[in-house]
Amino acid sequence: CGIVGYIGQDDTKEILLNGLEKLEYRGYDSAGIATLNDAGVQVVKVKGRIAALRESVDNSVHATMGIGHTRWATHGVPSEENAHPHQSASGRFTLVHNGVIENYQELKEKYLRDVHFASETDTEVIVQLIEKLFAETNNTAAAFRKAMSLLKGSYAIGMIDHEHHDTLYVAKNKSPLLVGLGDGFNVVASDAMATLKVTDQYVEIHDREVVLVHRRYIEIQDLNGNSIMREPYTAQIDANDIEKGTYSHFMLKEIDEQPFVMRKIINEYQTENNELKMDTGVRQAMNSCDRIYIIAAGTSYHAGLVGKEFIEKLANIPVEVHIASEFSYNTPLLSEKPLFIFISQSGETADSRAVLVKIKEMGHPALTITNVPGSTLSREADYTLNLYAGPEIAVASTKAYTAQIAVLAILAVDTAKTKGLSLDFDPMRELAIVANAMEVLTDQKEAIEDLARKYLRTARNAFFIGRSIDYHVCLEAALKLKEISYIQAEGFAGGELKHGTIALIEEGTPVIALATQKNVNYSIRGNVQEVVARGANDMVISMKGLEQDTDAFVIPHVHELLTPLVSVVPLQLLSYYAALHRDCDVDKPRNLAKSVTVE
Ligand code: G6P
Repeated sequence: CGIVGYIGQDDTKEILLNGLEKLEYRGYDSAGIATLNDAGVQVVKVKGRIAALRESVDNSVHATMGIGHTRWATHGVPSEENAHPHQSASGRFTLVHNGVIENYQELKEKYLRDVHFASETDTEVIVQLIEKLFAETNNTAAAFRKAMSLLKGSYAIGMIDHEHHDTLYVAKNKSPLLVGLGDGFNVVASDAMATLKVTDQYVEIHDREVVLVHRRYIEIQDLNGNSIMREPYTAQIDANDIEKGTYSHFMLKEIDEQPFVMRKIINEYQTENNELKMDTGVRQAMNSCDRIYIIAAGTSYHAGLVGKEFIEKLANIPVEVHIASEFSYNTPLLSEKPLFIFISQSGETADSRAVLVKIKEMGHPALTITNVPGSTLSREADYTLNLYAGPEIAVASTKAYTAQIAVLAILAVDTAKTKGLSLDFDPMRELAIVANAMEVLTDQKEAIEDLARKYLRTARNAFFIGRSIDYHVCLEAALKLKEISYIQAEGFAGGELKHGTIALIEEGTPVIALATQKNVNYSIRGNVQEVVARGANDMVISMKGLEQDTDAFVIPHVHELLTPLVSVVPLQLLSYYAALHRDCDVDKPRNLAKSVTVE
């Protein structure tokens, strides 16, 4: 979901539609825009894609200010009525919102009993409330600020008052929102990517601030109306990074970028003397904790599972890996000196942020590992390590996962070194070998496409099995396949399958096994035999040195700890081609959002 807004000299429709297209990757199920000109406000909304919105927009309407929105349904089904923008009863105020208002029922009962509501959304409560408060003050900015002070929950908001042709009203709390500065115009966006085409100058908005965005200047205020000054920064995103180029899908482009990302990480985390480069604060935090708690969601959680192996095996610190949404409501017993590591591609995941807020209140230190410097999780943690993967647009995460694992490996080795532990492992050398191996694999797309066609084109379900570190990769492989091909897939520890799940194996059920670990090579192959005996269609992906003649695919040899970085590549490609051959929308799978900013 996302927001975009424009106020300037040019026609706003194209800027809004283009901005929304750039935000499509975040996931949404309806969209809308509102523009304002002398004839008043025009609102256009659709259920479905931006392409449909584009077709519904009246091209003869010319307007130089407007707001746009993509919605990922939380309260209320995806529909035209529930799509944003929403309007107040009189039609004077038109508003878009991302986030969740927790007290919307209370606000409705306290202030809006006599108001007729057109939608089921919590958002409509905000715009109706602003109209109500405006009636008391006759001052839009004051009513806007007052309304914001009454809201509990998360929001990024853009609003038009149809009596004010020189102001966009903007506010933020916990949901991402930026103001972009131009020459004679200004923009608003959830993400700089939406408006990079028109400006690379951005101003951060902090939680519980409002901004009055005019054509030639902006006014940042706190909720009491006091002015706040803040300098703009230059967005460090290359506009080319957010184009598909010659690729048919962002996912394929991002899979192919992984060797470059590995090399970029090697460069960024190395000094000129080939020593590891690490923030001293991070070093201290890693050295003074007695236990690490990794908090993450989805793919980042799976990277965390691999990270635990590195930190425990190399740096000798116990690690627990937790699903963010579970941790926040069911917090385990903590050690005396915990260090929290938040892993998040976007740096915006609300589930992870809820934990960060909680542990900061408890006074514990936090490190965020993210692909988006300046994101909420990065700003609010004590330390940040960047992934340097470049913008990841496809909903299904690929290069961010491998970047997270690489950075975790460097962090583990750096910690081991500062602790004086002796290690026979040069991470930069090993990562360079990984980068080459990845390249070998991305060159073998046809072979993997054949496997996808053979095993998965008509499959109803699929199982991924592996032991030890391979098991973590199986969880990620299954998630990838589910996300984009809608095949029911599960990752299992090889030895656990026989304790129940083997009941699901039928004639022809695809079982994909990973065999990259020497100490479990014999036993995982035993597990493969168990399922083959029950009719499974097995596909073994092994590592050079451990392979057998019947294996479907062999990956190049890399250091045993780093195999996830390499074994995941054919599995990502397998999901990609499975989805492609099943006619699925690879980059924008149904129901999913790239950055989930609601709990
Ligand atoms: C969403 C995405 C997943 C992602 C997860 C965590 O659910 O669809 O692909 O892994 O969020 O996102 P983060 O940005 O915190 O890594």
